[in-house]
Amino acid sequence: MTDKETPEIKKYQPFRTPKGVHDILPDDYEYHTYIKKVVRHRARQAGFRRISTPILEYTDLFARSIGDESDIVSKEMYTFEDRKGRSLTLKPEGTAGVVRSYIQHGMNQLPQPALLYYFEPHFRYDRPQKGRYRQFWQFGFEIIGESDPALDAQVIQLARKIHDDLGIGDLFELQLNTIGTPDSRKKYMQALEDYYVGKERSLCEDCNNRLHKNPMRLLDCKQEDCQILAQLAPIMKDYLDKESIDYHEELVSYLDELEIKYVENNKLVRGLDYYSKTVFEFWDKSEGAQNAVGGGGRYDGLVELLGGQPTPAVGYSAGVERLIANMKREKVKVPSKDDLHVFVAQLGIDAKRKCLPLIEDLRDAGIKAIGALGKGSINIQLRLAAKFEVPYTILIGITEVREQTAIIRDMEMGVQETVNADEVVARMIELIGEDNLDTYSPGDLVYT
Ligand code: HAM
Repeated sequence: MTDKETPEIKKYQPFRTPKGVHDILPDDYEYHTYIKKVVRHRARQAGFRRISTPILEYTDLFARSIGDESDIVSKEMYTFEDRKGRSLTLKPEGTAGVVRSYIQHGMNQLPQPALLYYFEPHFRYDRPQKGRYRQFWQFGFEIIGESDPALDAQVIQLARKIHDDLGIGDLFELQLNTIGTPDSRKKYMQALEDYYVGKERSLCEDCNNRLHKNPMRLLDCKQEDCQILAQLAPIMKDYLDKESIDYHEELVSYLDELEIKYVENNKLVRGLDYYSKTVFEFWDKSEGAQNAVGGGGRYDGLVELLGGQPTPAVGYSAGVERLIANMKREKVKVPSKDDLHVFVAQLGIDAKRKCLPLIEDLRDAGIKAIGALGKGSINIQLRLAAKFEVPYTILIGITEVREQTAIIRDMEMGVQETVNADEVVARMIELIGEDNLDTYSPGDLVYT
């Protein structure tokens, strides 16, 4: 064949994930699973039921809830038109969707408050950096239908319990503030605007843009000059009405009762517009506001703003990646349930045939087993078993098939024993120990 006739072999470039999003590989999934179990357990204890809202919602839902001027809505949403020209957005947070669902499904008819939790991926077009991703996981709790500072305290307590369960409770500091009822906040916003007007030259571009739209956000700007100005700005508490002050004092008394430590932070305003009264965040003691692991607050006006009856609510959500990063930093390892018990090696097609039902029986007994792979020699398969780090290997060769036996090899000790084929499963259970079997059951089905 001449060069001309040689068919061209195309070399494709391998794909990579889009910028800012990442795979959850099996090692990290163990952390995810563990956190999910902790959240589910704590949620169940406190009467919360799980909800999952779509990844897509109409864009207006987020614009109206979180606020047009917020960073999330103005800069960070993944928004696109569907084929009929409707504007849709990948959900940047969970609360708006849960409230939309509460209204849509008439959950106000259920016993109130409705206690809901979620564990979901969310999307924000953030600048990717440590602890900041474009797809990230949040779990969250929402209590809709009741206004009582005892509920705010319970949500905070729930978050703390989960941090403790994950072995990282001591790393975080609870930052607490009240931003009052919308009426009292209006007066405060005016006072803030008046204070900043005339000082525009010392403000960063973002703060200049927000000054007349949402002056409260100027208080938590991270730029040095803006922070200096914020130090001298009017203080929210001086503008709050009695209702807001009393509510906050009652909350604080409950936190004291629960022995929950907090830092009163009158600059904490949160980046979402739906809050009223209580707001809080959990900050890393060493990193401060940067990379908060979670946050939340009361949002008494949101249900009405989204078309429902006036209904008070409070909630909290936490970033799963940030929690995992903290667990790893503290060298907290989660128990792995993925470790295999046994590798079944075989030689010859007859042995392989015997292996398949044996593997099935082992698995049914709760023994985590793989095997009957490939056609390599017993030695090659033993090396593979060592790579899987199994404590035991079962070997079935031509002799074992003929004699209806199997060899069980203890991989660490390097010793082996021959057992009758019909006793392999029982002997394996003995070796592994009943307590170590994987006999998880999702619960018994009921036929109605
Ligand atoms: P948020 O403070 O915007 O609140 O987000 C909650 C948590 O999600 C943050 O503290 C952080 O751990 C994590 N998070 C946010 N953005 C990113 C990102 N780009 N990459 C990684 N993690 C991130 C809310 O979303 C409210 N819905 C909380 C709430 C529930 N308020 C009432 N109910």
